Amino acid sequence: MVATSQTTGEGWSSRSAFILAAVGAAVGLGNIWRFPTLAGESGGGAFVIFYIACVFLLGLPLVLAEIFIGRVGQTDAVGSIRKVSQESKASPSWSIFGGVGAIAAFLIVSFYSVVAGWVLYYAGVMGLDLIQAIGAGEPFRGALAGESQEQIQQRLGDMFASPSLLLAMHFAFMGLTLYIVARGVSSGIEKAATYLMPMFFVLLVGLVVYGAIEGDIGDAMAFLFTPDWSKLTPQVMNSALGQALFSLSLGVAGLITYGSYIKEKSNLGSTAAMIAVADTSVALLAGLMIFPIVFAVGLDPAAGPTLVFQTLPFAFQTMPGGALFGFLFFVLILVAAVTSSISLLEVPTAWGIGERGWSRTKSALIFGIGAFLIGILCLLGYNVLSDVRPLGFWSLFENTDILDTVDGFTGKVMLPVGALLTSLFIGWKADTNLLRTTTGLSPLAFNVWRFLLAWLCPLAVTVILVTGLFPGILGA
Ligand code: TRP
Repeated sequence: MVATSQTTGEGWSSRSAFILAAVGAAVGLGNIWRFPTLAGESGGGAFVIFYIACVFLLGLPLVLAEIFIGRVGQTDAVGSIRKVSQESKASPSWSIFGGVGAIAAFLIVSFYSVVAGWVLYYAGVMGLDLIQAIGAGEPFRGALAGESQEQIQQRLGDMFASPSLLLAMHFAFMGLTLYIVARGVSSGIEKAATYLMPMFFVLLVGLVVYGAIEGDIGDAMAFLFTPDWSKLTPQVMNSALGQALFSLSLGVAGLITYGSYIKEKSNLGSTAAMIAVADTSVALLAGLMIFPIVFAVGLDPAAGPTLVFQTLPFAFQTMPGGALFGFLFFVLILVAAVTSSISLLEVPTAWGIGERGWSRTKSALIFGIGAFLIGILCLLGYNVLSDVRPLGFWSLFENTDILDTVDGFTGKVMLPVGALLTSLFIGWKADTNLLRTTTGLSPLAFNVWRFLLAWLCPLAVTVILVTGLFPGILGA
């Protein structure tokens, strides 16, 4: 491997552009689809509270650590870690975790695009329905008028059964992601974020208010915030940690990559805090948007990955304005998904540019098409390959289909390992003066940050990783 990397020379046009792009990367399917799914499956309150603790005690320090590495390195993740190692007189081998991160980001974007494809399909269905409603002179009627609950439910099954439909949606979404990434940092990624994120927040607030008026907000609050600690099993802790890392886009060098496009000096600590607060708020708001509706219609919060797709269309049917709000809901998820998937594809793309000297277009094409192909396997796991259990020999993934295996393996194994190495590297190896001057933290904040990275993150991540992966260890 070459020992020097090229800088891409690209950069954000302002601090707020970086924050929007990083919040855009953080806020995604993880917040609106994965968080409610996991919270529902794990029984609510205890999971949510443990999740919030993970975000602020482990996630936030890691967000700052990753941005720091990128800010110093000014190039792809591998090159940036190498640069920090050099300046800290640490072994250049640490840069390996940047490479592992790029692989993880590449794997994540492959199934991410498939799920975003489902969203795209539902946005299309609801969009057509809205057009009909308007045509019929009833723009504020409920969604999918005249369809029975069975028919609505059936639509998801039909979609999963159709490889060509899934493929078409996956193709469209990955194509869009690839297009934006190929256009570059300031004219692609940053532009997308500056248009899409404000739109996202307007939609989100509107839908939360709508859910509060039309749904059962009391039950939802109780479910999300009343902890039943007996439900906090090692597996639940493991998925809460994995979710905190996933939602903050940590452990795969995503924020190293975005951080490397920061050109001017800025206060990285407050930037990191803004990202963590914004991301967590959106996850909780998404819960407060979805569960009131789930409970109002009497559906099972533990439905799993199909929760958002099966439950909400029911609800939008019975609610006034459902045709309009249902459409907006899926547009909202789609918007969030785009700004995240571009951040994922950007990690391996930057690696190709920085370490291999490829042009941006070539690098984006190679990884975009590669991820597209892996995504095809994931979507075939819902129909033609539904018997395939890629890690079936491992009890944890015994009954897990292809998509959930890629999701589970990256989320439960690769992200925590990436986070562990990041915390060890910054907590123990990185040069203290370099850290101090680059982050601009106050002495107190700096000491707390370094302590959390050096001690709490590695310990907590290791314990949760080991007990989560090998539940037998606790004799459970
Ligand atoms: N954080 C995004 C979400 O919640 C997904 C994502 C984007 C991501 N970039 C990442 C996850 C990097 C892990 C690593 O949807």
